[in-house]
Amino acid sequence: MNPASAPETSSFTPETPVGAIVAARPALARVFEKLGIDYCCGGKRPLAELARARGLDPATVLAMLDATVPAGVAEVDAAAMTLAELADHIERTHHEYVKAELPRLVEMADRVARKHAWRDARLKEVAETVTILANEMFSHMAKEERILFPFVRQIEAGAPDGFHCGSIANPIRQMEDEHEFAGRAVARLRALTDGFRPDAEACNTHRALLGGLEEFEADLHRHMHKENNVLFPRALERAARN
Ligand SMILES: [Fe+2]
Ligand SMILES: [Fe+2]
Repeated sequence: MNPASAPETSSFTPETPVGAIVAARPALARVFEKLGIDYCCGGKRPLAELARARGLDPATVLAMLDATVPAGVAEVDAAAMTLAELADHIERTHHEYVKAELPRLVEMADRVARKHAWRDARLKEVAETVTILANEMFSHMAKEERILFPFVRQIEAGAPDGFHCGSIANPIRQMEDEHEFAGRAVARLRALTDGFRPDAEACNTHRALLGGLEEFEADLHRHMHKENNVLFPRALERAARN
């Protein structure tokens, strides 16, 4: 049932870090998303710990991973790309999506808050959080595109670490901190909207906003996973060899 290239799921144990699981089998990201397990910022933590934090039995989660066949629309195999290819892929897909989607979500969240906050006061905080998230994400992606990713491409081409303003470990640490911030912001949005579920009275814009936010969360998790658990560790490892 598995493609020959993918490691067997059953090689995962409760101690396997969730980021390593998704790096080996990208399609399993969907299982973690469904269970609310954070595999991008929490990627270095073992499966058992994150499962228990969600009140789930680690053995059950392992069984769910085992039962998951690769989906029709496969996520790219980030681990098989060169660092330059992966950086290009992240810019072309995730960064472009965020740039197109966030202004739309900001505008919708503002509109929904103005019209409906009288009946659900949390909508004000939703709008504020989306605006903060948008500002942070635009500045964050600009740093990746202008500083970190060019640095990664040069490291892969053989440049010594620290050829430009210190080690690559410094911008990587900063990007990871910013991912934590973005991860907390989307988790807050999920909590404020009862898991992105509209109530019976929600208008169409409100429903479209929640659908858009849920999709944004899933894309953000895939995006940060590729950076935190694949691109960054491989760039650090490459830099150490130059
Ligand atoms: Fe990024
Ligand atoms: Fe990032």
